[in-house]
Amino acid sequence: MLLIAHRGASGYAPENTLAAFRLALEMGAKAVELDVHQARDGELVVIHDEDLRRTGRRKGRIRDLSWAELSSVDVGGDRIPLLEEVMDLIQGRAELHLELKRGSRYYQGIEARILALLMRREALDTTLISSFDHQALFVVRELEPKARLAYLRGFTRLGVALKEAAELGAESINLSLRQAKPAVIRECRKRGFKTLVYTVNKPRDFERMARLGVDGVFTNL
Ligand code: G3P
Ligand code: MG
Repeated sequence: MLLIAHRGASGYAPENTLAAFRLALEMGAKAVELDVHQARDGELVVIHDEDLRRTGRRKGRIRDLSWAELSSVDVGGDRIPLLEEVMDLIQGRAELHLELKRGSRYYQGIEARILALLMRREALDTTLISSFDHQALFVVRELEPKARLAYLRGFTRLGVALKEAAELGAESINLSLRQAKPAVIRECRKRGFKTLVYTVNKPRDFERMARLGVDGVFTNL
């Protein structure tokens, strides 16, 4: 079962920061997850929320702020990194689970920007692009047949999720811990999808997921 460092080693360092990704690599993570948004000037930034409320520092949506403005925001004693900076750090040493928070209906051109960066860094093979925004995954697929995709199920009915994931040629269906029931895992596997489950931090949940035979878990530990 693959352990994926959720937002980096976010149990030990501020989530989605270079410190969290560095630590995840030092701890031997074979895979890391991060969340991507787009700044006003088109820069791709790594942060979970689409606004700055949780930083407690200042108000504002990521899409309305420039990278210069975002780069000075304090996130737990660190700063928000660019996707490019995280990729420079990882350098293909771990599989990258890149969660695209919203597609181009909200962040114009974000799918193409992400793909251009992955191509420039020769990281298409080592990156899985995931999203709850399934339309964004369809845009990615249309732009790049070789992109590796993971379908985050969210509130979508299982039947619809399986159908869309097949249309997309996704390699995995990503489920919440609550959704990870034996029948669901069985059905995903029967259709040829891997299953990745978030967020698994308790020993008894690790054991349960291992028994179910899921392919990987996102963890903060
Ligand atoms: O990609 C798995 C997980 O990160 C999805 O939820 O809210 O932690 O980004 P969230
Ligand atoms: Mg995420």
